[in-house]
Amino acid sequence: MASGLLGIEELEREQIQALLDRGRYYQPMQTQPVKKLDTLRGKTIVNLFFEPSTRTRTSFEIAAKRLGADTISISAQGSSLSKGESLVDTLNTLDAMRPDAIVMRHAASGAPHFLARFLPTPIINAGDGTHEHPTQALLDALTILDHRPSLEGLRVAIIGDISHSRVARSNIHLLSKFGVDLVLCGPAPLLPSEFAQLAPGITLTTSIEEAVSGADVIMMLRVQLERQNETTFPKSEYFQFYGLHLEHVRLAKPDVIVMHPGPINRGREIASEVADSPSSAILNQVENGVAVRMAVLEKVVAQVVTQ
Ligand code: NCD
Repeated sequence: MASGLLGIEELEREQIQALLDRGRYYQPMQTQPVKKLDTLRGKTIVNLFFEPSTRTRTSFEIAAKRLGADTISISAQGSSLSKGESLVDTLNTLDAMRPDAIVMRHAASGAPHFLARFLPTPIINAGDGTHEHPTQALLDALTILDHRPSLEGLRVAIIGDISHSRVARSNIHLLSKFGVDLVLCGPAPLLPSEFAQLAPGITLTTSIEEAVSGADVIMMLRVQLERQNETTFPKSEYFQFYGLHLEHVRLAKPDVIVMHPGPINRGREIASEVADSPSSAILNQVENGVAVRMAVLEKVVAQVVTQ
């Protein structure tokens, strides 16, 4: 198996730190007049998205282009999967065209891990079902580090649909490796007790007030209705009980950072006055996504070069 990036869980703290350091190195480039390097010149990156995406897909494509690679983006709707071809056959077909890496998003948890066992081309996981979204956790960590000198000892509240969130899972793995004090919060049906066992130092609460009190970072999540067969909580009251309002922000540290991976649903999980407030780092997260994905693509594709 060629080594790509499948998840945060299997990475050592030092490997994560190296990617964050390289992401930081690429940050200033994002605002330069000329944003093009030739680090990956002559390399081809395939973006294969079986689920909708705006940020992640665009960000990977821009990151690859800024490193000088050629990119091609394929979505499930326009591919032969809709003609009945299996996932393995589709991937083998793409692989036969000799790309240097495949960036992949799929609704099935574990899909990229399964394919990585067969394909020689490295796979970068851009979100697999409810499992992991490693580059999101990396860009989130980089965003926190723009505002705090280190992650150690910070209090981070992750609020919303914890059970269906790959963003939550990857962030839990990353932040707990760096000694963060994590509080997970949501309505009981979306907050499985097993999450407390994912790492030491995790607490669960159904009270948003308790979760945000004294927080350095508040990370909001979208309710992933597309992953729920039946709704297990009253949707009409969700915003009242689990939406982030200005009075919650006032319970946190005065310089709290409010984050959300997007897409945000204003008036469903976050109030507009919070999303647009000076505490909000939502667009900084998007900006950091490009820098972090440049670091990941460089690492993954450069590794292939030296093999
Ligand atoms: C997230 C995802 O797709 O997992 N979005 C993203 O990549 N920025 C979160 C979501 O869809 O709610």
